[in-house]
Amino acid sequence: MCGIVGYLGPKGAYDILIQGLKRLEYRGYDSAGVAIVDGDGKLHVHKSRGKVANLEQVANAGCTAGSLGIAHTRWATHGEPNDVNAHPHVSQSGMIALVHNGTIENYAVLKKVLKDHGYEFKSETDTEVLVQLIEYIKLTSSCSLPEAVRQALLQVEGAYAIAVVEQNDPDTMIVARKSSPLVIGVGEDEVFIASDATPFVGYTDKVIYLQDNEIGVIRRNQPLQLISLHNNEPSAISIQKLQLSLAQLEKGGYDTFMLKEIFEQPSTLRDCLRGRIVDDCTRVVLSGVELNKERFMNAERITLVACGTSWHAALIGKRLIQDFCQIPVEVEYASEFRYGNPVLNNKDIVISISQSGETADTLAAIQLAREKGAFVYGICNVVGASIPRNTDSGTYIHVGPEIGVASTKAFTGQVTVLTLLALSIGQLRGTVDKETLHNILSALDKMPEIIKEALNVDPEVKKLSRVFSYAHNFLYLGRGYNYPTALEGALKLKEISYIHAEGYPAAEMKHGPIALIDHEMPSVIIAPSDSLYDKIISNVQQVKSRGGAVVAIVSRGNTAMTDIADFCIEIPEVPECLTPIVASIPLQLLAYYIAVNKGKNVDQPRNLAKSVTVE
Ligand code: F6R
Repeated sequence: MCGIVGYLGPKGAYDILIQGLKRLEYRGYDSAGVAIVDGDGKLHVHKSRGKVANLEQVANAGCTAGSLGIAHTRWATHGEPNDVNAHPHVSQSGMIALVHNGTIENYAVLKKVLKDHGYEFKSETDTEVLVQLIEYIKLTSSCSLPEAVRQALLQVEGAYAIAVVEQNDPDTMIVARKSSPLVIGVGEDEVFIASDATPFVGYTDKVIYLQDNEIGVIRRNQPLQLISLHNNEPSAISIQKLQLSLAQLEKGGYDTFMLKEIFEQPSTLRDCLRGRIVDDCTRVVLSGVELNKERFMNAERITLVACGTSWHAALIGKRLIQDFCQIPVEVEYASEFRYGNPVLNNKDIVISISQSGETADTLAAIQLAREKGAFVYGICNVVGASIPRNTDSGTYIHVGPEIGVASTKAFTGQVTVLTLLALSIGQLRGTVDKETLHNILSALDKMPEIIKEALNVDPEVKKLSRVFSYAHNFLYLGRGYNYPTALEGALKLKEISYIHAEGYPAAEMKHGPIALIDHEMPSVIIAPSDSLYDKIISNVQQVKSRGGAVVAIVSRGNTAMTDIADFCIEIPEVPECLTPIVASIPLQLLAYYIAVNKGKNVDQPRNLAKSVTVE
């Protein structure tokens, strides 16, 4: 949800900022902009609606002269995505430029006060209010830029990660954060800042994660200073080593990041499982559980909170935890949970699931859960993100950077970690028998090879995708473990192809949605050989008898569906609780190819962003 990037050092800032913006474009691509302070202290600002490529066309030569700059890629919240609302925003005098990720909630009140002092506004954004406020404070109290930023932020309610530069000062950049992420990359004689560390990869592996309510004062050839927003005291600097390579940020020969990420799943699941299945597949080790045995032993209820795809993983997690741990489980949309007055106490465990670790609703949900005394456990992909830093313990899924906006490898990683977590808690509480544990762990251990085999359906699914050029609606049906898989399959299709798709529990269809079925409404049925297989066959017959085309995802060698469904896609057979991981592969591919056939930009679908840091 908006990406910011900044550079101060000996090199030309412009190219570094543009490359950084391209790496952050997954956070929003409604508009982009750059502000450079050149060696003479002149501020050059260029911005453009649309993607970074548009910005490159409008930015002029002046931009290439400076070695200090800030830049922004936007996912619009306040005001439509046009050139004027694009960041950087500049103060009334033209002296101060600012980029911002987040939302200033009290911007209307601040704007009114500033208008009363004669300030005029060009854009409809909340951000312009902040830059004007900084200028107003700086001019009226004759203070330094860092102090004006600090005093302005003390008046701001909401979330922000900001970077600020000033005309006539080519040697200083100020950054600050609250709730929105900001990382500082420290090189030999240069400093980078960004919403995540991807823009620094290739330049430095030394990073500092700015904390909430911290301000960073970055001055050329001087040590970095961090100060506390509230008391203006210096805070300690903790430098960490970044574990990211350039290869992880490139398409690696694939047409799109999404296709690369689908095909990466054998190796990402290997990374996700590494070191966690031990003693010849008889024991699972998750340090987050080992270190908090008492909490897990005494838990009376587990609540899973998440959004979007991660929420679908949570639904599968519920079933896994109920099956293996016999603990009551609830699943909540984080956005509902945070305002739902949840009743929690210290016997509750709240598990948050988030790929980015920055989703605002999920972050707020766990903060609330902690205030109410629950033990909060995080399942996250991005190392060092806000959610893992705000949980009591947790497990990383370790699937590497997911750049395609539609989640694929993170989903299979989340379900894998949830399986390990359920087995680990079950092992601790003695609610899973040794044979079951061994069978599931043995199959999980082979999951990288199983997924590799599942990916062999690629040419078949690609061909099948062309059959559905007529469809404007799809129904995805599944039962038990695969009802959430159906929801996830439908979400993948709608977000990248813009075709309406509904996921439904197969047996519920007869209570309403069956009315929609005709020869123009295909259904995708997730029907691996599991305990509900016979039941789902009769659900499929109900669809067929109303003229709808049926694509069935079935376990290899199971022929009962062949005579009923129009198309069958086979997946390798695995224990029932692991079928969602394997069945998602053809669903990801189907959504992918349908979207590609329609000429859509699958990596950057319209209106979406990868990291949803606003409510
Ligand atoms: C869908 C998708 C979104 C995210 C959701 C939560 O493909 O990517 O639905 O799953 O925005 O994001 P995280 O997992 O980062 O909290």
